Amino acid sequence: MKLMSNTYSTYTEFFDQKKDIRTLIFAGKGGLGKTTLSAATSIHFSNERITKTLVFSTDPQASLSDVFEKDVFGKGEIKLADNLYVTEIDADREIELYTQSVRQKIFDLYQLEEIPEEIEEYIESAKAEPAMHESATYDAMVSLVSRGDYKLYIFDMPPFGHGVRFVSTADVLDNWIHKITDMREKSEEYEEVAAKFTGKTKQDLAEDAIMGELTEIRDRLTFFSSMLKNEDQTGFFMILVPEKMAILDTERAITMFEQFGISISGIIVNQVYPPELLEDEDLSDFLKHKIEMQQTHLETIYKRFGDRVLAVIPMYDREPKGIELLSKVAKDLFMWEKPD
Ligand SMILES: Nc1ncnc2c1ncn2[C@@H]1O[C@H](COP(=O)(O)OP(=O)(O)O)[C@@H](O)[C@H]1O
Ligand SMILES: [Mg+2]
Repeated sequence: MKLMSNTYSTYTEFFDQKKDIRTLIFAGKGGLGKTTLSAATSIHFSNERITKTLVFSTDPQASLSDVFEKDVFGKGEIKLADNLYVTEIDADREIELYTQSVRQKIFDLYQLEEIPEEIEEYIESAKAEPAMHESATYDAMVSLVSRGDYKLYIFDMPPFGHGVRFVSTADVLDNWIHKITDMREKSEEYEEVAAKFTGKTKQDLAEDAIMGELTEIRDRLTFFSSMLKNEDQTGFFMILVPEKMAILDTERAITMFEQFGISISGIIVNQVYPPELLEDEDLSDFLKHKIEMQQTHLETIYKRFGDRVLAVIPMYDREPKGIELLSKVAKDLFMWEKPD
């Protein structure tokens, strides 16, 4: 694995150096701490750096509503404190609106009285596709960033395939679009004369509509992947816990990102039991073993990811929720010093 040529070695140094940062993305599997660390980071920026910040999520479960202890789900952009805004999009509702617009397009295109049953079934089954959920998520993200109402955008990504499977999708869609365009150009050569007399056929219209959709989706994904590749403006962090599976998983993800030309900005190790507890003579064997095992994994993490580790966050004795406890997490995150 190649080492990053970075000159920062902590979370704070990262931000001190990257003055043009606009977007932060937290990726990783569920349950490791993406939402908690997104929220803690948003508190730091709004408070300490007086930066108008929007923190975003889509997942209604164990999400921003939960950590900030305020129901913000599907309610638009909500102000929580000075410079601190939160939005939690209702992906299902976005998908519903989107499929309604697809239905409308089909009506307009074919001038039907009602949608044929098999198409209706198709639309219904497409709604359940994870890809629809992802598409709705990127759609919301892209439109927020392009409006530019905030100085910093923090994206707490839903745990779909590390939140970045789509990077490859942009290329795949691009290929399709080229193929379709090619095919149409070829067939046009033969049909040019006929078309002059008949105008556009129904099939042409349908193809136009499909092309339009594909192009829109492709553009959204391209926007997103170029954002990810912009190292001056985007911080891309992976959350890790000191466990074997999580380490393997993160290695795999980093390799995959590199294949797409994306390098992660850093790794944050979360939920580390304080090793000082080992000094306590009354410590139970259970906790002793747990801590020792975590410390072994932590060594592996330093060996494998070295420079990329930008902070190590302790396991707290309660779930960090609410502004006060999250401020404590922010402190641990931004005050962390690299051990020698
Ligand atoms: N360092 C920590 N100490 C104690 N509990 C934590 C810590 N980090 C996260 N948690 C708890 O673990 C659960 C999962 O964290 P969360 O941030 O929701 O993860 P994700 O968003 O990646 O699914 C939550 O209940 C959260 O409060
Ligand atoms: Mg979460």
